[in-house]
Amino acid sequence: MPISFNEKTRQFRLSALSSDYIMTIAPGGYLAHVWLGEHIPDDDLSYLLRLDEPPFTPESNDRDRSSYMDVLPAEFPCFGVGDYREHALSICGEGGTSTCDMVYKSHRIIDGKPPLEGLPATFAADNSPCSTLEVTLEDKAAQLEAVLLYTVFENVNAFTRSVRIRNTGDKPCTLTRVYSACIDLDRSDYDMITLNGSWARERIPDRCRLHHGKQSVDSVRGTSSHQHNPFTALCSHNADEDTGEVLGFNLVYSGSFVSLAEVDQHERTRYVIGINDTDFSWELVPGGEFTAPEAVIVYSDKGLGGMSRAFHYLYRNNLIRGKYRDIRRPVLINNWEATYFDFNTEKLLGIARQASELGIELLVVDDGWFGHRSSDNSSLGDWIVNEEKLPGGFAYLSGELKKLGMKLGVWFEPEMISPDSRLYREHPDWAIQVPGRRLTMSREQYVLDYSRPEVREHIWGMMKNVLDSADISYIKWDMNRQITEAGSAALPPGRQKELWHRYVLGVYDMMNRLTTEYPDILLENCSGGGARFDPGMLYYSPQIWCSDDTDAAERLKIQYGTSLCYPCSSIGAHVSVCPNHTVGRNTSFTMRGHAALAGTFGYELDPTRLSDEERAAIPEQIEDFRRFNHLVRNGDYYRIGNIFSDNTWDCYEFAAADRSEAIAVYFQVLARPNYASRRVRLKGLDQAAYYYEESAPEKLYSGAALMSCGINIGGLWGDYQSRLLHFISK
Ligand code: DGJ
Repeated sequence: MPISFNEKTRQFRLSALSSDYIMTIAPGGYLAHVWLGEHIPDDDLSYLLRLDEPPFTPESNDRDRSSYMDVLPAEFPCFGVGDYREHALSICGEGGTSTCDMVYKSHRIIDGKPPLEGLPATFAADNSPCSTLEVTLEDKAAQLEAVLLYTVFENVNAFTRSVRIRNTGDKPCTLTRVYSACIDLDRSDYDMITLNGSWARERIPDRCRLHHGKQSVDSVRGTSSHQHNPFTALCSHNADEDTGEVLGFNLVYSGSFVSLAEVDQHERTRYVIGINDTDFSWELVPGGEFTAPEAVIVYSDKGLGGMSRAFHYLYRNNLIRGKYRDIRRPVLINNWEATYFDFNTEKLLGIARQASELGIELLVVDDGWFGHRSSDNSSLGDWIVNEEKLPGGFAYLSGELKKLGMKLGVWFEPEMISPDSRLYREHPDWAIQVPGRRLTMSREQYVLDYSRPEVREHIWGMMKNVLDSADISYIKWDMNRQITEAGSAALPPGRQKELWHRYVLGVYDMMNRLTTEYPDILLENCSGGGARFDPGMLYYSPQIWCSDDTDAAERLKIQYGTSLCYPCSSIGAHVSVCPNHTVGRNTSFTMRGHAALAGTFGYELDPTRLSDEERAAIPEQIEDFRRFNHLVRNGDYYRIGNIFSDNTWDCYEFAAADRSEAIAVYFQVLARPNYASRRVRLKGLDQAAYYYEESAPEKLYSGAALMSCGINIGGLWGDYQSRLLHFISK
C-alpha cells in the first residue's frame, strides 16, 4: 500500500516508486515532517525529530513551548504561536488578530485522487495510479479546519500537496495567507535552482548556494510570469545532470506565486510554495471553503536529469489531457513573423498554398483578424472577423484551406480589452481598475475583469460565434500584459484582495469551457511568449508557446531551462527566418529545424520568400519530425551538453523507453579552431545491447561504448550548425 499509518508510532508513510514522504503526529498534535528522500524501511523514524533534546517538548514541560514551535519541522505552520520561520497559514480572525494554530483531528486514506474544485491538478491515470491521504487539522479557537491533501504516485517519485481551509464557525473569517506546501528539511547544504528571465529569454536557470535567511522567487504580476517560474529545485552541492540528490517543486498555478527557501538558526531549511500573499486575502463565510492550488514535489537521486524525467513522466501521464496528448500534432505554420498585422485572405492563401506543397498541415491566423485591428493599439474584445481583411470570414478561409488539405487555427487574446474597442465603449467598468486612478496602459490594452461571470459569458459568446462559424482546429490563447490597479467593480471593499485569485479562477473556468465544449480543438497557450509556462496551463493545453525568441541559439538556452521541469512535447517551437527577428542572428536552416524538433515543431515564416534551398529543406525537416516525434512525446529526455557551462556546443537526446532507439542532436554553436571532432557520450541506452547509427549501419557500437566512451562528432563547418544521429538497436 503506497500510504500507511502506524497507529503505534503515529507515523504516516507515503511511498512513491523508490522514495518516501514520512510524517508523524508530534507532541501537541502537530503534524511534523520526518523524511523526504530514498525509501527507508523503518517503522519509526520519530527519533529524527530529536524530541528528547532541548528545547523541551511541551507535553512533559511547557516552560518553553515557543522554542519547541520554532524548531519543530512543521507540515503546516501557522502564524503567531512561536514558529518564527515562514508560515503557511495566517488569518485575520475575530477582533482583527492574526494568530492561528492547527493540530491533528483525523485522517483518511483514499484510492486515487479527488479533483480540486475549480483548479487544475494532477489526476490518477490507468498507467500511473496514485493514492491520497487527507489529514484534517483544526483550530478550535478560530473555528477553522485545514484538510491537508497528499497524493503519492506509484510509478514515479512524485508527491503532490494541497490544502482546503473550511470555516466551521458561525462568523466570517479572513484568510491572509494560504500556502500549498511547507517542507522542513533537516539540512541546509543545498543549492537552489530557479528559472528566471524576461520577455524573449524566459526560464534561464540560476543556481546558488542556500545561506542563512530567505531566498525566493515570486510573481506579483497576476501571471506566473516571464521573470520567474513557479519551479524550484533544491539539490546537493555536488548534484549534476546525472548524479546527486534533487528535490523539485512546482506550483500548478498560473497567477502570482511565491517559492521560498529559508535557512534557520539551526541550519535547517524550510521550503514553502503557494499563492503570493501580497495583496491577497479571502473571506470565508461560515461553512465556506478555500482550496489552495496544488504543489508538485519530485525526488531524484539521479541528479537533475532524473528530476526532469520524473516531472516529464508525471505531466505527460497525470496532468496533460485531451486527444492531442498522445498523438502527433499537426505541423503548423503561423503567420505572425511572416506578416505581423499586414495580411489578408489572399496573402494567407499564398502562404498556405506553398506550405501545403511542402507538407505543412495547419495554418494559424495570428493577431489582427478582428475588429479594426491593424496594429496592437485596438479592438481587443471585439472578436468579430474583419471582413475587409478576410472577406467571407473564417468560413471562406477554412474552405479554401480544406481544398489544399490544410486545417485552420486562430489566435485569441480573450482576457484583454483595448480602450479603442466597442467592448470598452459599452462596458468601461469591465476593465480591472481602481476608480479615480489613472489606469496603467501596457501594449495599449487593459485586462478584463475575469472574476465577473458576466464578463466571461460575453467573451465566451463572441468566441463561440467565431468557433462555430468555420472549421477551426486549433486555438492560440495569448495574454500580453500583467495586472495593475487591481480593483473590481463587482467586489465589495472587503473582498477586493480576492481579485487576483478570482481572476485566475475565471481564466481556468474559460479554459475548462473551451476544452469541454470543443474537445477536438488543439489549444496552445501563450503569454507574450512564455510568461505563463506553468503546469496550470498544461492541464488545459498540451502545448505552450515557449518564447517569442525563435532564434535557434537562444532557443537552446530557453528550451534547456524549460526542459528542467516541463516535457519537451509541450514546448511550442517553430522554425523562423534569418536574420532572426529578435536578435538579428543568422543560424543554419538545419539548426533551426533541429532546435524546433525538441518541441512541438512548426514554422513561423513566409515560405514564398525562402530560398529554393531552404524550401527544399522543409519536407526533409517534416520527415524527421514524423519519424522521431514519438520519441519526443514518449521517450526519455537527456541533456547531454550544457550551453550555460560551454557556449560552443550543445546536445540533447531522446531515448525510447524500451532503449531500442535514440536520437542525439548535436549543435556546433561556435566553431572551434583546430578541433576535428568532439567526443559526446550518450545516455539512457542498454549497456549490453548493440546499436548502429542509421547513416552508417555497417558499424556496431555497444550501449556501453556509446555511453562510457562516446562517439566523435565532427565534419561541421562554421557557427550554428547541427547534426542528428539516429541509433537503432540491432
Ligand atoms: C505575443 C505572442 O507571443 C506572439 O507569438 C504573437 O501571437 C503576438 N503576441 C501577437 O500579438
